Amino acid sequence: MGQHVTVVGRGLIGSALVGRLRRDFGVVRTVARSGARTDEHEPCDLGTRHGRDGLLGALRRWGPDRVVLTHGPSDVTWMERHPEEAAEAHAGLARAVAAEFGPRLLLVSTDNVYPGTEPLRTPADRPRPANVYGRVKLAAEQAVRDAGGRVVRVSLVYGGWSPPGQRVTFAERCLLAARARQPLTVPEDQWFTPVHLDDVTTVLTALCRPGAEAPALTHLSGPRQLSRYEFARAAYRLTGAGEHLVTPCPRADSEWASRPRYSSLRCDDFAAATGTPGWQPAGVGTGLRAMLAAAPAPSGVTAR
Ligand SMILES: NC(=O)c1ccc[n+]([C@@H]2O[C@H](COP(=O)([O-])OP(=O)(O)OC[C@H]3O[C@@H](n4cnc5c(N)ncnc54)[C@H](OP(=O)(O)O)[C@@H]3O)[C@@H](O)[C@H]2O)c1
Repeated sequence: MGQHVTVVGRGLIGSALVGRLRRDFGVVRTVARSGARTDEHEPCDLGTRHGRDGLLGALRRWGPDRVVLTHGPSDVTWMERHPEEAAEAHAGLARAVAAEFGPRLLLVSTDNVYPGTEPLRTPADRPRPANVYGRVKLAAEQAVRDAGGRVVRVSLVYGGWSPPGQRVTFAERCLLAARARQPLTVPEDQWFTPVHLDDVTTVLTALCRPGAEAPALTHLSGPRQLSRYEFARAAYRLTGAGEHLVTPCPRADSEWASRPRYSSLRCDDFAAATGTPGWQPAGVGTGLRAMLAAAPAPSGVTAR
């Protein structure tokens, strides 16, 4: 189809998106902090001016039709301790590229632009971030939208298996513990709308097409809000482990104590964008089954 896409960031979302785009589009280039420089990849630390100049230089050379911003930092706790670096990498970077590449930008943003006091936020709800992550992503959103680009706010993503030694997703933790028949204690009062990685790449790929039909700001999430406890029970059920191994606890007594009560978005309609009438993201049963089908051998994975 001749569409050239540059994907900035090649972590959980970026690397899956690159795989999908390469199948659908052909010409896909990447930018991330690590990796060796090649015709198709530019290593840049986007938290520095030098790195941002490197990105701008690469974009000028490559002349992509779309630039998808999926870079980090993405660790909420780290950003709380390093607000300036977080602002540079997200808001600073977005402002730097928006001036020249605004209408070509597609930013992957987050439900953290809301304080998490109410469920199922829609794009009509006014953002009011309560943490550094939400504030720097909201500033990046504004830069991208002011310059004519698109923003997709995405709920917590699951799907795919991390390489050994890397941070694993909540879904991986649940499935790994379930397969090992280990007990797990998780909050019953933290609610989210997890969305499968395949659905995220489907929508982002669709939005990279010329003339994609979608508003400038959309929300992409799983079809149902559920608690972490319910999600973990679903994982245990699917692996055949006893659901009694999952124990509910209050959020305040867990590692999610600093997280809000709700991390949930209401999903917009992406049928027109994806070109699939009635398109809907997968429910957690389908999504977790897909993960299990692709799971590595138990001995090949280490949970942290
Ligand atoms: N995952 C989710 O559930 C979720 C949900 C909503 C929104 N988001 C947003 O989506 C984006 C991607 O999330 P993810 O889960 O795919 O993140 P991730 O797995 O942590 O990957 C982040 C990527 O960004 C790169 N990166 C980090 N700091 C950088 C820097 N200073 N300069 C250049 N590159 C840098 C990393 O490069 P290296 O690997 O080379 O260090 C990595 O490729 C984030 O902005 C996040 O806010 C994620």
